[in-house]
Amino acid sequence: MYDFEETIDRRKTDSVKWDIKSNELPMWVADMDFQVAPEIISAIKNKADQAVFGYEEPHADYFNAVADWYESEHHFRPQTDWMMFSTGVVPSISSIVRRVSNVGDNVLVQAPVYNIFYNSIVNNGRHVLSSDLVFDGNNYQIDFTDLEQKLAEPLTTLMILCNPHNPVGKIWSKAELTKIAELCVKHHVKLLSDEIHGDLTFNDEGYTPMFSLPADLIQNLMICVSPSKTFNVAAIHAATIIVPNENLRSSVNRGINSEELAEPNSFAIPVMIAAYERGHKWLEELKKKLQSNRQLVADFLEQNIPEIKLIPSDATYLLWIDTQNISDDSEKLANFIRKDTGLYLSAGNVYGGDGYDFLRMNIACPTEMVKDGLNRLSQGIKDF
Ligand SMILES: Cc1ncc(COP(=O)(O)O)c(C=O)c1O
Repeated sequence: MYDFEETIDRRKTDSVKWDIKSNELPMWVADMDFQVAPEIISAIKNKADQAVFGYEEPHADYFNAVADWYESEHHFRPQTDWMMFSTGVVPSISSIVRRVSNVGDNVLVQAPVYNIFYNSIVNNGRHVLSSDLVFDGNNYQIDFTDLEQKLAEPLTTLMILCNPHNPVGKIWSKAELTKIAELCVKHHVKLLSDEIHGDLTFNDEGYTPMFSLPADLIQNLMICVSPSKTFNVAAIHAATIIVPNENLRSSVNRGINSEELAEPNSFAIPVMIAAYERGHKWLEELKKKLQSNRQLVADFLEQNIPEIKLIPSDATYLLWIDTQNISDDSEKLANFIRKDTGLYLSAGNVYGGDGYDFLRMNIACPTEMVKDGLNRLSQGIKDF
């Protein structure tokens, strides 16, 4: 049994999430407040005890640990020679944008989506082209006609997919992923699949890693995975890029090497191996905790704040809350709630699309904190 109820004081620790006023409660950035798995802590201590921190590079044990994890957790074993180490998913995305598309190209996304995708595109002089997800009042769908039209535009050379999708918490089905992959092949668009949330699923089937699709659909594919969300080790800076096609892999590899993203810090390899080899049980218990927190929020909103609505989802610890009955300016609403009650949520409009109607709430924290957040939310909505 692991402890998911201990409150760890992270104020004044350089934590981005907790760099806030004393009365504030942060439920925004995707960072969990649980103590890291003891298996990871002991790997870090062992490494620290070695007391030599010279240059390192990943070897077969690292790549095998990644492959084993995907085989046992997600029922498909990616080949280890498809893999490259990198110092994070976001740095990899930015590098891939620079390497496989040109200045002025369109990079296709599906808004509302993880806001940092926009930075990776715009900061590199590419255009964001969104095929917005369609919200039917309860669920999000892909408009495949619109998606195909936008993929067919000659200047669209890259698509960034979020699988499962942050912030709406949707696990794309194998049929949907196959269709996306087919359309990208048909229109010669390279496909980058960010699968950082893939381990945090709450349905029976889990999610489908894109590299498990048939060989003819994965030749233009680059997949980014990492234990950084699953095990909350973002500041360890470690990720794996999986590229089945050899030529594309060489190109991505040249990019991450010339941009110096390919070398691990001293703790990255031991942490990744400990997480992937010995983290299964911790993850299983974490998922139960997250599910019970989610149920708590669902029940509370229904009983106490029926004018706002939790969107059903089965992935990530980020809840997507429909506040359109209160305001169509989620930035204004989030700022008001923060000032009024100290509860710090993410305003949906940073994710683009219809995000202005939503707030995003991170529930990866001890239950007492979730309860505190809900009481503040209720107060804030009442006062708004
Ligand atoms: C979809 C997605 N990709 C990437 C990241 C961050 O990845 P990294 O910390 O490895 O750069 C996040 C963090 O929340 C995310 O939600």
